[in-house]
Amino acid sequence: MEAQAIHPCAANSDERVLPSIFRHPSAAAPLLITQGAEALLYRSTYLLPSTPCALKYRPSKPYRHPILDARLTKHRILSEARVLVKCRREGVPVPAVYALDEAAGWLMIEWIEGEVVRIRLNEWLKRRKEEDIAEGVDDGELLELMTRVGSAVGRLHAIGVVHGDLTTSNLMLRPRSREVSNGDSETASKMLDGNVVLIDFGLASQSQADEDRAVDLYVLERAFGSTHPRAESLFVEVLREYGRSFKGANVVLKKLEDVRMRGRKRSMLG
Ligand SMILES: Nc1ncnc2c1ncn2[C@@H]1O[C@H](COP(=O)(O)OP(=O)(O)OP(=O)(O)O)[C@@H](O)[C@H]1O
Ligand SMILES: [Mg+2]
Repeated sequence: MEAQAIHPCAANSDERVLPSIFRHPSAAAPLLITQGAEALLYRSTYLLPSTPCALKYRPSKPYRHPILDARLTKHRILSEARVLVKCRREGVPVPAVYALDEAAGWLMIEWIEGEVVRIRLNEWLKRRKEEDIAEGVDDGELLELMTRVGSAVGRLHAIGVVHGDLTTSNLMLRPRSREVSNGDSETASKMLDGNVVLIDFGLASQSQADEDRAVDLYVLERAFGSTHPRAESLFVEVLREYGRSFKGANVVLKKLEDVRMRGRKRSMLG
């Protein structure tokens, strides 16, 4: 894991008061995993010490009007939970929802083992550089990952959900179950292997609009592009698989061209 785990008591030397769930006797003391712009992500346990969970806490923002702030936090948590439940129901790979308290500002979800695509991809690229492997050579692994990403995003859009912040930090790679491996899982585990799980639905919405779907793809394309030119050029694989994933996906791909054009114009204007 990339993030340093910090005990909340240590991380919480400022005036922040954590909700009582953080002191619950049956739960493991939450460990702070990452601190985003809006949310703090902790690892804890749910009901049993053997069931890890992710605890996403949105503390109040002192710079926002308190009533507006409370309303916004509630809205974000409830809408994230609602979308996650819809995805689960429809078989789109996302963490399960365990519990929430929108007034206290937290959402407890299934812990996903593995790492985000951004980290895995960077490690993979670094390793290849060290081994002096030329671009485009033996990158079947990356190609396969792109296909899996295209399929996951396609499945999400097919059920009428747009993510709203589709970056490589919001896609996780969960190791495939051990049972199916042939015993040499440690050595054989490929860096880009694993099932794609979509996370972070704080900005998601229910929409079937081609424009919204195309913006999701555009954001993801930019995210891959900022990682590496090779990842950018292989983004066509994401789009190819996406195009196959639901009826109407090709209209979205057409729309993506307009969105790209607008993006280019905007960056030209500075
Ligand atoms: N269910 C989970 N299991 C394991 N790790 C998780 C899980 N959810 C999030 N993470 C880790 O925590 C990080 C931050 O979580 P997330 O993306 O949901 O929050 P955020 O980007 O801070 O939130 P937001 O953009 O909604 O304000 C992720 O990039 C990932 O590394
Ligand atoms: Mg995120």
